[in-house]
Amino acid sequence: MKLHSSNGLHGSITVPGDKSVSHRSVMLGALADGVTHVTGFLMGEDCLSTIDCFRKMGVRIDVGDDHTVTVHGVGLHGLTAPTERLYTGNSGTTTRLISGILSGQSFSSTLTGDASIEKRPMGRIITPLRQMGAVISGVDDKFCPLSIEPGKLHGITYTLPVASAQLKSAILLAGLYADDPTTVIEPAPSRDHTERMLRAMGCRVDTDGCRITVYPPDHLTARDVAVPADISSTAFFLVAGAIVPGSEITVRNVGINPTRDGVLEVLRAMGADLTLTNRRDDGEPVCDITVRTSQLHGTQIGGALIPRLIDELPVLAVAAACAQGETVIRDATELKVKESNRIAAMVRELTRAGADVTETDDGMIIRGGKPLHGAAFETYHDHRIAMSMAICALVCAGQSDIADDGVVAISYPDFFDALRRLGG
Ligand code: S3P
Repeated sequence: MKLHSSNGLHGSITVPGDKSVSHRSVMLGALADGVTHVTGFLMGEDCLSTIDCFRKMGVRIDVGDDHTVTVHGVGLHGLTAPTERLYTGNSGTTTRLISGILSGQSFSSTLTGDASIEKRPMGRIITPLRQMGAVISGVDDKFCPLSIEPGKLHGITYTLPVASAQLKSAILLAGLYADDPTTVIEPAPSRDHTERMLRAMGCRVDTDGCRITVYPPDHLTARDVAVPADISSTAFFLVAGAIVPGSEITVRNVGINPTRDGVLEVLRAMGADLTLTNRRDDGEPVCDITVRTSQLHGTQIGGALIPRLIDELPVLAVAAACAQGETVIRDATELKVKESNRIAAMVRELTRAGADVTETDDGMIIRGGKPLHGAAFETYHDHRIAMSMAICALVCAGQSDIADDGVVAISYPDFFDALRRLGG
């Protein structure tokens, strides 16, 4: 993909459905009694991996035109033994959440994924699931492939070592199969889509600050899911609209769950011109967001904000490179264990474009305002690095190249088309 500096992006778009909500609609829909109709489903490779895994466990899932998915639930105890390994591709969410579900089944299973998945930390789920009675093992007890044998689960109270919704959800989903309630204590609130969807399906889930308790239900009742547009995909266009001179972009129907909206808070603190309209609630709060170009300035990003914008940090680093003054990102070591080491990747690629960036132990320091120039950017096979550097390319003098552009299909197959439609 060849990209050029832009004179302005204009128009309104709807980005694809939220990745986290799409995964959960299939998983919980499969475990429910009844049929779940999902609209706005993200047809990205990660969510298709989730569909594939549940089909291999006997769940009928119809994928329709226009982002609709129908999940024919089999009930909490209706999954059947897969005849082959479950392959989760590049998807950490599929791997971790499904592990919690598989821990409560009466059959054996093996989970495997791509080269990136085999490097991502799984010890963090193995430890609590074993405490619950799961019979789960991995390579060195830390990595995929994971083997899971039938186990009898009991409720635990577990303090998470990191604020991770994947880890929290793996434990809560195993908790559906335990003989007493399970409590998870988070260091800071992470995305709560699992809790919301479980509640909508009739399961009791109590949240008291950072303490979440799930009560094992007799059954889950199918509920239709309207997936909002993904705020993580929206973030690329919010940053593009803010930094590309003369732009005005509206992104419609964006999910603004308070556990996910840290990117709006940070962009506003940086001086971005954002207008939120048409607010409504459909299980998840949504609105339309308009961004107009403005001069950004540096900010501090750390603490409890980090889990609320973890996936948006790469593109926020691009915004920081275009801002006046210094931006410090701290408390973000989790970024090192995403689809790639996103701290190292962004420091290297922004430096390649001429930005002044220093890597730190838990984040980076970006001294913004340096003139940026086009380059051949690497993606590290990471969809969010590819899209972040594509946005950066719009403000780089000259031409940029992204060789591995197909990687965006993990979360946003039409990303480059959307950018073209806005005039990029
Ligand atoms: C996700 C949680 C986050 C996020 C990922 C999706 C989820 O990961 O980075 O893209 O759907 O629960 P962690 O829970 O590992 O922080």
